[in-house]
Amino acid sequence: MKKIAVLAGDGIGPEIMAQALKVLTALKLPLEFEEALVGGVAYAAFGHPLPAEVVELAKKSDAVLFGAVGDFKYDSLPRHLRPEQAILGLRKALGLFVNLRPAICYPELTAASSLKPELVSGLDLLLVRELTGDVYFGQPRGKRISPDGAFAGAEEGFDTMRYAVPEVERIAHVAFKAAMGKHLVSVDKANVLETSQVWRDTMIKVSKEYPEVTLEHMYVDNAAMQLVKAPKKIDVMVTGNLFGDILSDEAAMLTGSIGMLASAALNEKGQGLFEPSHGSAPDIAGKNIANPLAQILSAAMMLRYSLGMEEAAVRIENAVKKVLAQGYRTGDIRSEGCKLVSCSEMGDAVVAAL
Ligand code: IPM
Ligand code: MG
Repeated sequence: MKKIAVLAGDGIGPEIMAQALKVLTALKLPLEFEEALVGGVAYAAFGHPLPAEVVELAKKSDAVLFGAVGDFKYDSLPRHLRPEQAILGLRKALGLFVNLRPAICYPELTAASSLKPELVSGLDLLLVRELTGDVYFGQPRGKRISPDGAFAGAEEGFDTMRYAVPEVERIAHVAFKAAMGKHLVSVDKANVLETSQVWRDTMIKVSKEYPEVTLEHMYVDNAAMQLVKAPKKIDVMVTGNLFGDILSDEAAMLTGSIGMLASAALNEKGQGLFEPSHGSAPDIAGKNIANPLAQILSAAMMLRYSLGMEEAAVRIENAVKKVLAQGYRTGDIRSEGCKLVSCSEMGDAVVAAL
């Protein structure tokens, strides 16, 4: 029996999670689910977006299936109480330094992309994002009276961008392994940032162990451009936490809808947290119109990466391909002549297609 912590979170989280659980249950796998509140709903109930018991639950589970967190109504809370702290706190507490964000353009959905079909059809790109370092977690950070410079004496905010060599090495190994026999693009801003120079030097050092992989370096501004110019030239892209956050949203849009994209966050033990790449979409929450496919595909990634259930993972992925081929679409990916369905109807369609 494998234990799964189910953290649906805010906004559309609970409705899309219900569909993923429906699919997992239909597969009759030896899984045991334990649900808990995180994000804004946990703050409302317990005064904290990530209660200590939830961290404990996550640690003792084989995997965490995560929905989404965040809601406008919590935007004015102090930072440590905002819903986003739930996901940042879990990444840190579980040491989830690897973030795999595949951007796959399904043939049926090429028309939903804002790019020309020939640029995206057949796109199958993997973004490997470092997830526990960089300016996201670097200390010191805070607010203070500026000690020097042109604005000395004024109030200022500051964060610290930093990467240690071993920290870059471990994510480099993950990326090179994922890019075996293919082309790896490492993204940095080494023309300006010291952190990025360390990143680049380390990538070059690690590349010597992987002669099967061709390594290319790209500055992040150029990478943003290449992603919309010729995305199919990129097989695997590896980058730091902040650049990865931005570029993964961009890569997601190439596929037509961020509502299709799953992601995995893994630690050294292979324990993982699996979540859709999109957010909590509070504007459409509770309407049963959200696209549950990214959550369902995240469940498939969980079976593959943390639970060793490859066959079941493939069954889910094939079922998703089948419902798309059958013409079922939620609003975000609708096109002429499609069968427009609700969130729960899409879940039912996937179950039927298993
Ligand atoms: C993501 C999200 C998070 C991030 C937020 C919710 C903290 O944008 O997973 O990409 O910035 O990492
Ligand atoms: Mg993001």
